[in-house]
Amino acid sequence: MTLADLGPNPLAAGLERLPVAPTNLVIFGATGDLARRKLLPAIYNLAHEGALPGRFNLVGVSRGELSDAEYRDIAAESIRRFSRTPPDESVLDGLLSELRYVSGSFDGSATYEALGAALAEFDATAGDAMARVFYLSTAPEFFAVIVGELSAAGLTVAEDRDVRAIIEKPFGTSLAEARALNEQVLSAFDESQVFRIDHYLGKETVQNMLAFRFANGMFEPLWNRNYIANVQITAAEDIGIESRAGYYDHAGALRDLVSNHMLQLLALLCMEPPVSFTADDVRDEKVKVLHAIRTPREEEISSIALRAQYRAGVSGGEAVPGYLEEDGVAADSHTETYAALRLEVDNWRWAGVPFYLRTGKRLARKITEIAVELRPVPHLAFEQAGSLGVRPNQLVMTIQPNEGVSLSLGAKIPGTRMRIRPVNMEFLYGTAFLSQSPEAYERLILDAMRGDATLFTRNDEVEAQWRICDPIVSAWARGGRLATYAAGSQGPQEAVDLLLDGAQWRAI
Ligand code: BG6
Repeated sequence: MTLADLGPNPLAAGLERLPVAPTNLVIFGATGDLARRKLLPAIYNLAHEGALPGRFNLVGVSRGELSDAEYRDIAAESIRRFSRTPPDESVLDGLLSELRYVSGSFDGSATYEALGAALAEFDATAGDAMARVFYLSTAPEFFAVIVGELSAAGLTVAEDRDVRAIIEKPFGTSLAEARALNEQVLSAFDESQVFRIDHYLGKETVQNMLAFRFANGMFEPLWNRNYIANVQITAAEDIGIESRAGYYDHAGALRDLVSNHMLQLLALLCMEPPVSFTADDVRDEKVKVLHAIRTPREEEISSIALRAQYRAGVSGGEAVPGYLEEDGVAADSHTETYAALRLEVDNWRWAGVPFYLRTGKRLARKITEIAVELRPVPHLAFEQAGSLGVRPNQLVMTIQPNEGVSLSLGAKIPGTRMRIRPVNMEFLYGTAFLSQSPEAYERLILDAMRGDATLFTRNDEVEAQWRICDPIVSAWARGGRLATYAAGSQGPQEAVDLLLDGAQWRAI
């Protein structure tokens, strides 16, 4: 039984869908953590929703020796364990019954011969040249190798079918590497075939920033340096580095989260309205914002950027080790687990507005939010007691958890005196829509299959992101201050030094 045999899914009825051509989706790194935790469950949920085409086949490629049946078991087990909805066994069977597994090294031509044979067999069964989507979910050093081998094996020829590549992060670890990788990728594919993942763009709440800004007239007049005092973007996590020391100890917080996810949030917040919501119009506007951020100069880095590492502490009520005690971390590692920056977007709309970005592992709780603080009112006519509670308005977009938007307003406390305190007007996804949001990867995999790159990062965006981060990465590699903070805390004390004009970090 295949997905086609299940017939139309009632869950999909009435949903507006762009067509997805019959597709073979190939996952490189098929037994890896990302594939098991995120990709396979996302593909299952797409199947469950009826969003996949009737003819859809999965091929896993990895180094481990496994049979098709063994990989099918791994895939089914991962989906049962990590899917956001309990799997329906008939959909699961339909999705996995024809699955193939190709074992081999990513740089061996035999792997690509076997892959080519599996894909050709699917084409023969379909009597059609099925679209091919290659998902590169391997360690980053294999991205260029895989792209080169796919091209050498003739698997990227897109004359009679669509061929696309989805490439995971990190896209290089510096501007030079990102450029070299872009060159290699673009020698095998056209930019329109390349889908560089930044999973934040697949989050409902991140897309909602565009809806909020561009579907509501009330924000635009305020959305500039005349009314906005500062912006704080926080991506705090309570987890440590889990079992990822091998990757994380070379990456650090700046490369892991700031250079991609946080700069994307900043770009969406600051961009001009695009002419249309098509991939290039949206990305043209985002890249202009990134270009407007000055490359940090060496002499200013210590005053606009702070790095820190967590010490032992208490997280979720349990004692947890410090970063240097984590398995796989060198005892003298200088890798930052926290990074905070003050940036400026030097253009007509934003010049002079400080943008504060901070991210860290093992902070007090998981929260990703963007807080836009408006300028204070110019004059307070209330008596002193009334004025005490007046605070500048804040618009806070909570990306996760408790997804929503809140606006703080000054309101009179009931009573005979004029006393004021902030109150919140809140919109919460959970109560407004009463539905569970899809996982970011569901949206992104589907978009890549239908060739819509709006929510993916273009080559020039990735390079612009590295141009901003590179000087800071290099300065930190040369040495300098590495602050510390207790696990489970608000982060390093020193972070206040980045704030201008009496601004305060919001509580995490
Ligand atoms: C990944 C980082 O890109 O994003 C991880 O590599 C981080 O270190 C993760 O934990 C956070 O994603 P989310 O969706 O949980 O905010």
